[in-house]
Amino acid sequence: MREFSSPLKLQTYRESLEGSVGFVPTMGALHEGHISLIKRSINENDHTIVSIFVNPTQFLEGEDLDKYPRKIEADRKICELAGVDILFMPTIDDIYHGDELRIIAPKIKGYILEGAKRPKHFDGVLQIVLKLLHITNPTRAYFGKKDAQQLYLIQNMVRDLFMSVEIVPCEIVRESDGLALSSRNIYLSSEERAKALLISKSLKEASGLVLKGVRDSKRIKAQMLEIMRDIDVEYVEIVDRAFNLLDEVKIKDSIILVAARVGSTRLIDNIWI
Ligand code: PAJ
Repeated sequence: MREFSSPLKLQTYRESLEGSVGFVPTMGALHEGHISLIKRSINENDHTIVSIFVNPTQFLEGEDLDKYPRKIEADRKICELAGVDILFMPTIDDIYHGDELRIIAPKIKGYILEGAKRPKHFDGVLQIVLKLLHITNPTRAYFGKKDAQQLYLIQNMVRDLFMSVEIVPCEIVRESDGLALSSRNIYLSSEERAKALLISKSLKEASGLVLKGVRDSKRIKAQMLEIMRDIDVEYVEIVDRAFNLLDEVKIKDSIILVAARVGSTRLIDNIWI
């Protein structure tokens, strides 16, 4: 496995590669969710690049940038064992140059739901993903459905800017009891972890209701909130795949989304219906 921190050196090396290149951007503290993206990229491409960069511009004031888990040694081993060809770990100074052009997420879809709770978060996400896609120039880039709104906004950025990369959506990986894997799960005490399970439980209940024929968003959301009554829910919403709010679930065109705080940890999860 080759390692780069310099964007220019990686770009030069990348241009020498023949065949397809898969790219998996991450913020590290790698878990099975990340690994599933990495394995898929390795299966589908001649070369796979993984980036680890805790991107400061997507954290808001007061968020967990400073305490975000950093596990460089373990991450390096995981990448090596998985068969990653190139690990890209730039520093903040490698990536940002001070006063520079800014990307602004779409005014509507970038500022609802996650974007409403974390204003400008998606500006920072799109800014770094655009930079990383330019540096790595991949054939395909892999993103998890766990961050559904992020995935949607990246797909739209690629469309809006006529970029030729293929964005590959990947399924959510869960613990056997349903908890969606997240680098932030390590913040949870065992008591909090038990409470965090209510999120995936409520999503399972929602999909059960839909299977039984229930379509009314209000009814589904009320039932989910009842299940999550012991945690601090930030939002429960049902949207179509273009992130328009839905009064009624549309089969094969809906996503049910939850954001909640368990103790001081903020978690998101969703289910595609
Ligand atoms: P990070 O949270 O490290 O996630 C990296 C990728 O892994 C994202 O595409 C995310 O959706 C995916 N992922 C996380 N948990 C997952 C799970 N349980 N199942 C499947 N996929 C999962 O998302 C980011 O980093 C950053 O915003 C980034 C895109 C790297 C830009 O900084």
